[in-house]
Amino acid sequence: MNAAVASMPIPATQRWWQRCEDRLDLLSPRLNPLRHLGSIAMLMFWVLLASGVYLYAAIDTSVSGAYASIDRLSREQWWLGGILRSVHRYAADLFVLCTLLHLLREWVLGRFRGFRRMTWWTGTALLPLLMVSAIGGFWLNWDQLGQYSAIATAEWLDWWPLFATPFMRNFLGVSSISDRLFSLFVFVHLGVPLLMLFGCWFHVRKLAQPIVWPPRALGGVMLSMLLLTALSAPVLSHAPADLARVPVLPAFDWLLLAVHPLVAATSATTVWLALLSMLLLLLALPLWPQRSPPAVAEVHARHCSGCRRCVADCPYDAITMTAHPQRPGFALAVVDADACASCGICVGSCPSSTPFRSMARLVTGIDMPQQPIDTLRRMLRERLQAMPPGHRRVVFGCDHGAPVGALEAADVATFSLICIGQLPPAFVEYALRDGADMVLVSGCPESGCAFRLGQRWAAARLAGERDPKLRAAVPASRWATVWAGADGLAQVAAALDTLQQRVAREKTAR
Ligand code: HEM
Ligand code: SF4
Ligand code: SF4
Repeated sequence: MNAAVASMPIPATQRWWQRCEDRLDLLSPRLNPLRHLGSIAMLMFWVLLASGVYLYAAIDTSVSGAYASIDRLSREQWWLGGILRSVHRYAADLFVLCTLLHLLREWVLGRFRGFRRMTWWTGTALLPLLMVSAIGGFWLNWDQLGQYSAIATAEWLDWWPLFATPFMRNFLGVSSISDRLFSLFVFVHLGVPLLMLFGCWFHVRKLAQPIVWPPRALGGVMLSMLLLTALSAPVLSHAPADLARVPVLPAFDWLLLAVHPLVAATSATTVWLALLSMLLLLLALPLWPQRSPPAVAEVHARHCSGCRRCVADCPYDAITMTAHPQRPGFALAVVDADACASCGICVGSCPSSTPFRSMARLVTGIDMPQQPIDTLRRMLRERLQAMPPGHRRVVFGCDHGAPVGALEAADVATFSLICIGQLPPAFVEYALRDGADMVLVSGCPESGCAFRLGQRWAAARLAGERDPKLRAAVPASRWATVWAGADGLAQVAAALDTLQQRVAREKTAR
């Protein structure tokens, strides 16, 4: 558990991605979009739904009236309808971009296995829906871009022997397509996003307290950017659709309509095969065998009082309560091994994890077999006894954050936990009472916790805002926190120096 006993090695690719994210924390992790891709995508989805409702109210859903009704919004009502039309388009671009980056991030960080597999699968299922909604939106306008996209899609779909008469036949009429087909376009563009809304709910269902809104400041920046883009580059229609002519496209959306140029540059077969293989690969990833998955949390019935704190803190809803088999009227925590992330956050939340208990071997209500809380207490005691009095610095860190083990020295004892949320806050007081001069608690940056909520709960417990709280009587001058990513060792070292100077000043003042 100290520098010499690492709990879980973090793959180099994951460290690399974490470093990239840390470097983008220019002003604050709260303003770093890479840390909030899922929630930004969610925000864009709401913007799409809200602006979509207005556009739906304004559009004439007949094939002859659609173009004029949308074009009118841009020309005669630019200050509302026109802006909303542009916002709708740019929000769709941002939605797709953030979703793809979100997928890439979770993939690089290896977040597709075990307890996350259902979230991964439901995320993957959203991708085809996303594509259908994105492409179908262009058709409702029924301008030349819509015509080009509808025909290109029809040709592409006709690769499958699905329809008795090829879908492309619908576009062979010289004047226009039928109103019935146009109603189908509208129906698909309304129905699929509603299906996605349900899919999004399903996607985050396995997560406790899912973070579905980005931090307010970041959300504000994103919305302002959308509005500014909508004002500075308003979306306008191309010429009206005309099936007798080949569309002329002065502007093209390479993100939302990427599939068309791909089919044109290769073939329908290549693009179908590529997309289906990618989809199958994404679906198969969670089934890839994992080398010795870490042990899951283990409940010790005799030491569980049924307080439910672990239930409230578990980031993956992996704990439920049942009737205690030995103590009538009491509840007992039960861990769902399939849902458990092996993060140890529940250990930090359990009141029985306090090191002040007098038992020779500290057994708590819920523990991690690979890093029992008793080992942490024992090693802390041993290290404190071995260090010279007056020169005892203790650093608690996290395997996913700055590698605190590198600070290990004759007068610095370091302990790297699975997640900083695993640390029962009473350990800070215990270390100080047991002879430590100071204690530094280091964890990943805000919104950068590998287990979603560990940093948040650790910070709140230490600040006395969440149970179990660090007692207010613990001298605040002798402990500190530092939230630094994988690259943040220098930041942790600097925080330790600052803490040491503070403690030294206090000693001289006494
Ligand atoms: C419509 C598109 C999507 C939206 C709006 C979305 C949104 C979200 C949100 C809000 C979260 C919760 C973040 C948190 O509370 O920490 C999340 C988590 C997650 N998403 Fe997505 N997502 C989308 C697509 C995808 C896709 C395509 C994948 C991958 C195939 C994916 C994989 C994941 C995973 C693995 C997590 C769990 C992360 C963790 O446990 O820390 N998502 N998503
Ligand atoms: S180890 Fe983490 S995921 Fe597992 S039960 Fe404890 S808090 Fe929940
Ligand atoms: S926090 Fe500890 S004592 Fe409370 S229910 Fe969970 S395991 Fe039991």
